[in-house]
Amino acid sequence: MKALVALILLVQLPIHKAVPAAPPAPLGCDDPESEAAAEVAVSYINGHSRHGYKFALNRIENIRVLPQGPNNDIIFLEVDLLETTCPILSPTPLANCTVRSFTDHAVEGDCDVKLQKLNGQLSVLASKCHSHADSTEDIIQICPGCPLLARLNDTEVLAAVTAALNDHNSKTTDAYLKLLEIGRARIQYHPAHVVSAEFAVAATNCSAAEAKANVESCQLLPDDQSNFGFCTATKVIRPTEDLSVDCQLYGHQVPAPGVPFLSRVSQPTGINPSVVQGFPNHNLKLSHNNPVASESSSAEFPTVARSVAKRAVAEVAQHDKGIHPVGFVPLLPPCPGKIRHFKI
Ligand SMILES: *[C@@H]1O[C@H](CO)[C@@H](O)[C@H](O)[C@H]1NC(C)=O
Ligand SMILES: *[C@@H]1O[C@H](CO)[C@@H](O)[C@H](O)[C@H]1NC(C)=O
Ligand SMILES: *[C@@H]1O[C@H](CO)[C@@H](O)[C@H](O)[C@H]1NC(C)=O
Repeated sequence: MKALVALILLVQLPIHKAVPAAPPAPLGCDDPESEAAAEVAVSYINGHSRHGYKFALNRIENIRVLPQGPNNDIIFLEVDLLETTCPILSPTPLANCTVRSFTDHAVEGDCDVKLQKLNGQLSVLASKCHSHADSTEDIIQICPGCPLLARLNDTEVLAAVTAALNDHNSKTTDAYLKLLEIGRARIQYHPAHVVSAEFAVAATNCSAAEAKANVESCQLLPDDQSNFGFCTATKVIRPTEDLSVDCQLYGHQVPAPGVPFLSRVSQPTGINPSVVQGFPNHNLKLSHNNPVASESSSAEFPTVARSVAKRAVAEVAQHDKGIHPVGFVPLLPPCPGKIRHFKI
């Protein structure tokens, strides 16, 4: 008899199991899985940027998972980023980079990233970004005296950078440095007239003395010896002229596999005017411009995306009525996620 009961139970077991499982709840923007995807996305964005500064995650705006098969998902991720103080060529890991404060005239980045999660491994398939400096109205409102970002081709900025680099090169006993690009610059008019600028540089094969004899022959060092660095400069124009400059070289860096590190500065002519003309910041768009990264332009997935969205809406509606599907886990509104630094 006992054996028979056991047998009946055994036979029934699969039937109980066959109750349809609730569809998985949509991923929330602050779920660990979303954060893991964002970390891979941000690392990719910085690894493939060629200008300006590294960006840090501020907020996950949206995430959509489109199952493709067993252990194979396509993930569309929208993230808000903020500029850090680490230049893109700096070897400092992102975790050690400081997000630039609001009063330093913050720069925000918006990115759409398409990832694949295959057997637990995340990889980026496409990225599309743009970035812009916070509006001057925003800054003036909160910090009326704060100097604002100047255009990178501003005559006073170019003059300050040229003077600062000449000053450094005239005093150094080290390699003669060439300008790669101006990263950012600010001009203050009151109470003093001050131009401050940050710029990326690279060592040449000349000493300062050799450069004095024939600057034209000084070339950036080849890839296997390349040595990049970064300078900050302050030029006071009024009330009393003054110039200070501080340059740090990073030393030769071996690029990580798969990251096109050295090709980033493949133009040894230095500053590329077309990149910066008329803007106060380097636009992430120049390095990340793949429309396939955004869900709305990925024509391959429209129907799946819509059904996932519909299901999410239906679940929220049921939740509001107190009707919980089997296995329902109550969730906060899943997106956008928390702000990590500040909102601009
Ligand atoms: C980054 O920060 C960690 C922890 O604070 C520290 O141990 C490490 O030396 C830092 N690395 C760099 C390159 O600054
Ligand atoms: C730097 O490299 C260029 C090109 O290879 C060469 O013509 C020049 O003589 C080198 N200068 C020095 C000081 O070695
Ligand atoms: C900076 O670039 C913009 C856009 O190309 C141009 O209109 C402006 O005249 C430039 N300014 C200077 C000082 O060259």
